[in-house]
Amino acid sequence: MPATTMEQIVSLCKRRGFVFPGSEIYGGLQGTYDYGPLGVELKNNILDSWWRTNVYERDDMEGIDTAILMNRLVWKYSGHEETFVDPLVDCRNCKSRWRADHVHGRCPNCDSTDLTEPRPFNMMFKTQIGPIADSDSFAYLRPETAQGIFVNFANVLATTSRKLPFGIAQIGKGFRNEINPRNFLFRVREFDMLEIEYFVYPGTEDEWHQRWLEDRLRWWQSIGIARDRLKIYDVPREDLAHYSKRTFDLLYDYPTLGFEEIEGIASRSDFDLGSHSRDQGALGLAAKVNPNPHSTARLSYFDQATNRHIVPFVIEPSMGLGRCFLAVLAESYDDQIVKAPSAEKIATVVDVLAAFLKSVGKSEKLPDQARADLLERGAAISGALPEALPQIEALLGLPGADQIELGKKLRGQLQPLLDEHFRTVLHLQPHLAPIKAAVFPLKRNHEGLVSLAKQIRTSLQSAGRMRTIYDDTGAIGKLYRRQDEIGTPFCLTVDFQSLEDQTVTVRDRDTMAQERMPIAALPAYLAERIA
Ligand code: GAP
Repeated sequence: MPATTMEQIVSLCKRRGFVFPGSEIYGGLQGTYDYGPLGVELKNNILDSWWRTNVYERDDMEGIDTAILMNRLVWKYSGHEETFVDPLVDCRNCKSRWRADHVHGRCPNCDSTDLTEPRPFNMMFKTQIGPIADSDSFAYLRPETAQGIFVNFANVLATTSRKLPFGIAQIGKGFRNEINPRNFLFRVREFDMLEIEYFVYPGTEDEWHQRWLEDRLRWWQSIGIARDRLKIYDVPREDLAHYSKRTFDLLYDYPTLGFEEIEGIASRSDFDLGSHSRDQGALGLAAKVNPNPHSTARLSYFDQATNRHIVPFVIEPSMGLGRCFLAVLAESYDDQIVKAPSAEKIATVVDVLAAFLKSVGKSEKLPDQARADLLERGAAISGALPEALPQIEALLGLPGADQIELGKKLRGQLQPLLDEHFRTVLHLQPHLAPIKAAVFPLKRNHEGLVSLAKQIRTSLQSAGRMRTIYDDTGAIGKLYRRQDEIGTPFCLTVDFQSLEDQTVTVRDRDTMAQERMPIAALPAYLAERIA
């Protein structure tokens, strides 16, 4: 079963080092996160899968990597200086700031109705260029990677001799000064973007829009996202971005949040190439663009069949890595009962949980929102025991829980039950798993076992790009659980028989089944299952 709450994911990420709050030791920086040792592996594997599918496995794509800092004119002619704005309101009572569409007449923080009128707020970050700070010496941090592709259209065309239709893919950082970053990685101020600009003959854009929608849905399924947790949202005309003719948003059913945008697939017409082009009058543009006296290039395509210059239309699939990362974790998350706990053991936890929630209800130290959240989550867990027992861990991680004395007792009761009866497992697609195989010696103080286990780990690592680790820091059962929780598809155990016949046991993460296998057969066996 996928994760049911965002807290389960946040708690796992923190516990196992997938993601850390940015600048944590200085109190953090809102809307920024750092990817830890496992997070960077999962992230790189997602990026790799996207690049492989969209660049290497197609005949019609090129890649590019453009600068984050760009001439300010890029953002003038892209329309971002004028239109990349959110309406902002201030609460005069508690001084908090909100996006106007997140406020329904009352401040979400203090409930006051004393709010300012909405005013536009541009979400692009500015940074100073060069040593002299004057009003003209700044650049924006790019809010999307797309413009780096458009302004290089003529360069790519000239150096690759591509024919329409073809596309350019780019992965890189984007920055947005979000008024209210929230929901963990879902809305942040700095994030990796994965974008494709696909150039087509005018008149064929609807067909290509549909094809890209289908291609993208296929990719989401290839990384383990169930089709029934994705929805296609045909964005109403009045909500379209300034450049869009039509946009399909893909929505994912996130735990706690429900269906929210994970990717946008926009039909951008000839707006961008037209806006950045010189000689606009001669191009017969379909989009309405501002005159451009600054550009030095004509961003058109010479069509040999008709012997004329045309400006291609564009289909743009665009996604943020963080939202994908969250969906992949949520989708593969599973708290499994491996051995049913006795009624007696459950009753003990039920009593302490009830006492904890009673204490939450009576506590005067807790802010109203924290109290309400704890009571709501606690009631949902109480009604779904014993399956929901592991969710108590996430409950204890909610704001305010650490102020309730009984929390410690609850945690104390819970841990042995979880250790004995449950396992958290990430059923990640093997090609996404941060670690592909973990090698354990049956005994950590036996030189022969340790040395063979280390040898296996080194030879597997050098045989391919499969990240393989050695671990001897606990009993085998505990080591299995630890790898299950981070989605390692295979655990290899070196025992005394291994020293005699050069075989190991291979344990499968999902079925927990074990089989014996010659060490020499491991590289091919693992490579086949991980590819
Ligand atoms: N070039 C098109 C473009 O930028 P967008 O819908 O604004 O389109 C694309 O952004 C994707 O980037 C979204 O579908 C979402 O996955 C991600 N995204 C946007 N803003 C984000 C934020 N503040 N935090 C995390 N991801 C974000």
